Amino acid sequence: MHSGQFIAFEGGEGAGKSTQSQLLAALLRSRGNTVVLTREPGGTPAAEAMRKIVLDPRFEGLDARAEALLFAASRGDHVTQIIRPALARGDTVITDRYLDSSVAYQGIARELGVDTVRNLSLWATRDLVPDLTIVLDIDPQLGLSRLNNPDRLEAEPLAWHRRVRDGFVELAAAAPQRYLVLAADASVEDLAESIAARVDALTVSE
Ligand code: TYD
Repeated sequence: MHSGQFIAFEGGEGAGKSTQSQLLAALLRSRGNTVVLTREPGGTPAAEAMRKIVLDPRFEGLDARAEALLFAASRGDHVTQIIRPALARGDTVITDRYLDSSVAYQGIARELGVDTVRNLSLWATRDLVPDLTIVLDIDPQLGLSRLNNPDRLEAEPLAWHRRVRDGFVELAAAAPQRYLVLAADASVEDLAESIAARVDALTVSE
């Protein structure tokens, strides 16, 4: 069991996850909480090295299972070295992407299977799931238009990114008590306010 809160941001490309995760971290810190703000793939030196491999556009055609294993491997190291120790100290952990990114991108869009990919990450993380997952839902056409220099996954076709988007929405619909889904075309301020309200409700309900 852990004592700190574990919050994940998920969503397609260009949805504003990094902005909103930073704003939430700043809000909680301003209230005196200790917050670890991190991201995936990455968060430890080895996981950052795996990130470079898995996103490198030179590795076009990387085997889908190899891709899934790299994301799961990087997640395992991130959880063991950063996330679990922080939660054990009672810190709040906010991560920009986590397990549901693997389920949506590799499980659904790459068609490796929801259960297979989820179980792989549960094994890698020894079953660590977030207390709350915030999905910033965006039309992929809009999200992708906000990017420049696409990485290996961002360079996938629009139809593929639509499957990712539908995947996140389906995952959230299956467990609404553990998710907050927001239309990411709202203003930065409105999104931040909705997120803060839900995080406050999480604290109260514990
Ligand atoms: P990143 O540049 O961090 O994208 P973003 O800013 O949109 O979060 O790159 C992460 C990419 O890796 C992104 O395209 C989503 C993808 N991804 C997966 O396919 N599976 C995963 O498990 C994770 C964590 C990310």
